[in-house]
Amino acid sequence: MLTVEDLTVAFGPTVAVRGVDLHAEPGTVTGILGANGAGKTTTLLGVHGRVRRRSGRILFDGRDVTGDDTRALVRAGIALCPENRRLFPNMSIEDNLLLGAYGHGRRTQRARLADVLGRFAWLRERAGEPAGRLSGGQQQIVAIARALMSHPRLVLLDEPSSGLSPVAVDEIGDVLAGIAADGTTILLVEQNVRLVQRLCSTAYVLAHGRVAAQGPVSTLLADSAVSDAYLGTTR
Ligand SMILES: Nc1ncnc2c1ncn2[C@@H]1O[C@H](COP(=O)(O)OP(=O)(O)O)[C@@H](O)[C@H]1O
Ligand SMILES: [Mg+2]
Repeated sequence: MLTVEDLTVAFGPTVAVRGVDLHAEPGTVTGILGANGAGKTTTLLGVHGRVRRRSGRILFDGRDVTGDDTRALVRAGIALCPENRRLFPNMSIEDNLLLGAYGHGRRTQRARLADVLGRFAWLRERAGEPAGRLSGGQQQIVAIARALMSHPRLVLLDEPSSGLSPVAVDEIGDVLAGIAADGTTILLVEQNVRLVQRLCSTAYVLAHGRVAAQGPVSTLLADSAVSDAYLGTTR
């Protein structure tokens, strides 16, 4: 579904991502783990054409999309749910969601809104309220729902559990499990190892911009050298 080859991204003298290779199988949830500053966010932004790549080749569905900009990648079926949710707190939930289908005709936008609100019934009742009035967990669900508005086949998700209570993290887990069960492929950046354990069969561990380890999640977590060095004690 997604193959990333030799992705390198630098911010001036800081090389945030160095020669990263990744692969996500269709219909799976693939994890990207690693400490703060490891290069996880930059990897997703690099895949999605939101930062300039120094090197890298991106294949999606067997097609070379390396030259595509973000808008073309969204059209091709890749959506990003960014770090820190990035909702507009003073705008209504509905208007936040509609931004996820930006550039489509009004009829398509409305149809997709109805779709997404059908999935999250509680959201439909609150669609006119400012997004900022929701709890953190609810806002994260709106951010995920906004990504679904483009009808993606691949969702790049950046730390959806960040700052949430354990109960809210479990709810996010339920939402993501549902999306995956529908056949949508997910590339999940997470520091919450439990969430990765629940959702992902395979994962990559980034450290200092490189892939430090990769493989089945159970194998990675059983390797104390990997979990002690890169995954902290969140386990
Ligand atoms: N816009 C930027 N300008 C300069 N440096 C950046 C920028 N974004 C990220 N970095 C640096 O790149 C490295 C990787 O950051 P990031 O991808 O955000 O890591 P993570 O998401 O794993 O916490 C860090 O050293 C960070 O300070
Ligand atoms: Mg990050």
